[in-house]
Amino acid sequence: MEKMIVENVSKSINRRKIIDKVSFQVVEGDICGFIGPNGAGKTTMMKMLTGLIQPDEGKILINQTNVSRNREMALKEVGAMIETPVFFEHMSGRKNLQNLARLNIGMSRKKQLKKVEEVLEIVGLTNRGNDKVKTYSLGMKQRLGIAQALLNNPSILILDEPTNGLDPLGMKEFRELIRTLKEEFNITFFISSHLLDELQKICDKYIFIKEGSIKWAGDHHTFTEALDKGKDLEDLFVELMA
Ligand SMILES: Nc1ncnc2c1ncn2[C@@H]1O[C@H](COP(=O)(O)OP(=O)(O)OP(=O)(O)O)[C@@H](O)[C@H]1O
Ligand SMILES: [Mg+2]
Repeated sequence: MEKMIVENVSKSINRRKIIDKVSFQVVEGDICGFIGPNGAGKTTMMKMLTGLIQPDEGKILINQTNVSRNREMALKEVGAMIETPVFFEHMSGRKNLQNLARLNIGMSRKKQLKKVEEVLEIVGLTNRGNDKVKTYSLGMKQRLGIAQALLNNPSILILDEPTNGLDPLGMKEFRELIRTLKEEFNITFFISSHLLDELQKICDKYIFIKEGSIKWAGDHHTFTEALDKGKDLEDLFVELMA
């Protein structure tokens, strides 16, 4: 089943075309990498997916619902972390999440607090939950951002450059977290990065974007095949992006 369908989406900002007739689909259970250099339009696309900005043309369906027509319904099962997540730095990670959990209307306070403990555990921040966010490392802040995105039991997670600035250990932990979330909760992922090798180990599908257009899209198999033809990963990437 398609969790996300993007059809002919275009967006101009200040009369400059930022996204140009972009179409792609993300199928349930996939970890889809959205890869492109700085300024390619990744964040702009993700803002449209999450209804933060509107496309000029085209349509976006999430869980079969049009994001422009019925944002609330379309985004009901979407968790997102767009660009760097912003937190109240002088408050603890736990307190930040507890405040955000209040937005889960229809859930009792007791259930909200339980949910916070659950997501802290998932991202491995239980022990540091009472420390102020300003004392967190970058990797911990990214994990808190993912915890936040998990509060509404999403079936889709949209993560904008979640590995940006992480060291090799942080990167490994991130990959493990994504795998766990996929296996335990069957979450579908749409993850952006400007570095291919950061996502290469976990993605089922790849979409390469440059200057607002899709340059290549395919699954892990097709992609690996291309690599097996003796192409160096970096060469292939340069080629795709050329
Ligand atoms: N609000 C805005 N006003 C003007 N230009 C914008 C705005 N938002 C995005 N752009 C332009 O759109 C283009 C794509 O930006 P976007 O942030 O989507 O790229 P990106 O792929 O996320 O890049 P990065 O890897 O650096 O995060 C850039 O040229 C950027 O300057
Ligand atoms: Mg960006």
